[in-house]
Amino acid sequence: MSRIAYVNGQYVPHRDASVHIEDRGYQFADGVYEVVTVTGGRMIDEEGHLDRLWRSLNELRMAPPMKRAPLKMVMREVIRQNGIRDGIIYLQVTRGVAPRDHPFPKNTPSSLVMTAKRLSMAKAAKTAEQGVSVITVPDIRWTRRDIKSVSLLPNVLAKQEAKDRGAYEAFQVDDDGMVTEGSSTNAWIVTKEGRIVTRPTSNSILAGITRASLIRELEKNDIEIELRSFSVEELLDAKEVFLTSSTSYVLPVVKVDDQVIGNGHPGIVSQKLRSIYENFMAGEV
Ligand SMILES: Cc1ncc(COP(=O)(O)O)c(C=O)c1O
Repeated sequence: MSRIAYVNGQYVPHRDASVHIEDRGYQFADGVYEVVTVTGGRMIDEEGHLDRLWRSLNELRMAPPMKRAPLKMVMREVIRQNGIRDGIIYLQVTRGVAPRDHPFPKNTPSSLVMTAKRLSMAKAAKTAEQGVSVITVPDIRWTRRDIKSVSLLPNVLAKQEAKDRGAYEAFQVDDDGMVTEGSSTNAWIVTKEGRIVTRPTSNSILAGITRASLIRELEKNDIEIELRSFSVEELLDAKEVFLTSSTSYVLPVVKVDDQVIGNGHPGIVSQKLRSIYENFMAGEV
């Protein structure tokens, strides 16, 4: 089955899909996006992702490309036309096409693009069984990380550094030595005392949808968590480390920089939390 993209009202072969060179996403990174996991042909946390998309648009005073109900229909159609059972759907909204000038253009419709791709669940499960390594890098991003903007250059640089150093992810660290989040994931630790810690939402991090769902599921299971920042020292000293994101779910981390975490294998708590999250996903399908 060949890939199909949605571009401003049309379903087109992926290889032919394009936007104008004066699209403000291309010129200014003036756009926002979402990535939604698809499992068994169904979207996970669809409402949470759309709530966050609307929030990002609102924070940037950008008009939604269409109302929520038709947007959901287009998302379903993109999934259907690409025959996705397990994978992701990507959607991006920009402030539209206009002659290049910094201020917002007047009466310009937003651009909407969607793509979808398959992901291997078997590969994801194998990665989770082994655990991954992360590195730490300085957080060099702007102060509105709560907005899911397509302006991702610092994240790209962080991820590339991780790749260059053989790691899966880079945890970013603020000027006070506190971990903010990964380049495309939220960061968590389990302390030596067994406390599960993740940073509270603020402008310093993206409010991960996976993070929010995991917190909700843990509350349902009477598992306590501590919402607070943690330092690099605490990270290196943690009993367990894991990360969350729509594409990684709950993923155990077994090495940070050159420090082996625990016994170098996924910890009991991380594994339990992954299975709690997997149960939640199964319930969504
Ligand atoms: C910077 C950043 N933090 C956290 C996340 C995790 O968010 P979610 O769980 O909604 O995928 C992402 C996802 O892309 C991200 O880019």
